[in-house]
Amino acid sequence: MAAVRTSLTIAAMNTTSASTSSALPRIAVLATGGTIAGAAPDATNTSGYQAGVVGVGQLLAAVPSLASVANVQAEQVASVDSKDMTLALWTKLAQRVNALLASDEIDGVVITHGTDTLEETAYLLHLTVKGDKPVVLTAAMRPSSALSADGPLNLLNAVTVAGKAEAKGQGVLVAFNNRIHSARDVVKTSTYAVDAFQSPEIGALGWVQDGRVEFQRGVVRPHTLATPFVIGDAWPVVEVVTSYAGVSRVAIDALVAAGVQGIVVAGTGNGSIHSAMQTALAEAAATGVAVVRSSRVGSGHVMHNGAAADDALGFVTAGALNPYKARVLLMLALAAGLTTAAALQQVFDRY
Ligand code: SIN
Repeated sequence: MAAVRTSLTIAAMNTTSASTSSALPRIAVLATGGTIAGAAPDATNTSGYQAGVVGVGQLLAAVPSLASVANVQAEQVASVDSKDMTLALWTKLAQRVNALLASDEIDGVVITHGTDTLEETAYLLHLTVKGDKPVVLTAAMRPSSALSADGPLNLLNAVTVAGKAEAKGQGVLVAFNNRIHSARDVVKTSTYAVDAFQSPEIGALGWVQDGRVEFQRGVVRPHTLATPFVIGDAWPVVEVVTSYAGVSRVAIDALVAAGVQGIVVAGTGNGSIHSAMQTALAEAAATGVAVVRSSRVGSGHVMHNGAAADDALGFVTAGALNPYKARVLLMLALAAGLTTAAALQQVFDRY
């Protein structure tokens, strides 16, 4: 019988119990906080709770069936509400995942995370961690104290996926509400529903249910080992702005004055930008600020308009990446020393 092994010290490999089953995959669970680790004063409260207050040991103890799918060792990397995710914590998490992937003692990694910025962390790791072992993020929409809390099953499913050979080489995955998504495609689409994550237009990669994992398609774009991106401590400053009726150029001028290296625009429709804002962005691009057009719509692509428009203005287009994922890719590309619009466009077309 396998035992759940836990360590409550930050980023430590110390364990509190040791019996394992050699037949089972060895999965490291890294806890970062979120609603999955949230607690409310009573079981019917699913909005007035505190995220990230329940430790990883308690999360694992709530899922005894984990012992039959994996030998789990756990670490409390952080205890945050993911709205407060920081660049420093991203660095720490990615470095820890890289260390675990390099270890002969570990077959896969699961990360518990808040839902609010999960898609950003997942895409960051998809582009920067180096290994082909499964890395699976999961989360919950209801706190651990809730009636019908969704965290325990999501955690069990994530560990199940991380232990499967079919999950190798697929980049970073998100297991949520029985679905398996690619980190590149997945977005949060509901403020409250337990099926809060979708991969708009393209759909999930597969599903996990009752211990069975089935992939319906693979991941086509390069990721993990096949990217030039590495995690470091230096993060270029990139901000996101939105275009809307009546918007002015004030935000753009303020960002340029503050010295940002990049601006991602959540444009209307096919990434269109109010003319007042567009003029300011073109001026910013001319001074060397990287400008990326994405869309606030939530699905679809932002098409590159070529010589007549984007190239003349110095703009890069984000394709199917939403503004927040476009920001992740732009930060990594700038950190890798890519600065021209042409070089950045190649990155957006590829990753
Ligand atoms: C968070 O993102 O940490 C809080 C919200 C959630 O996990 O659903």
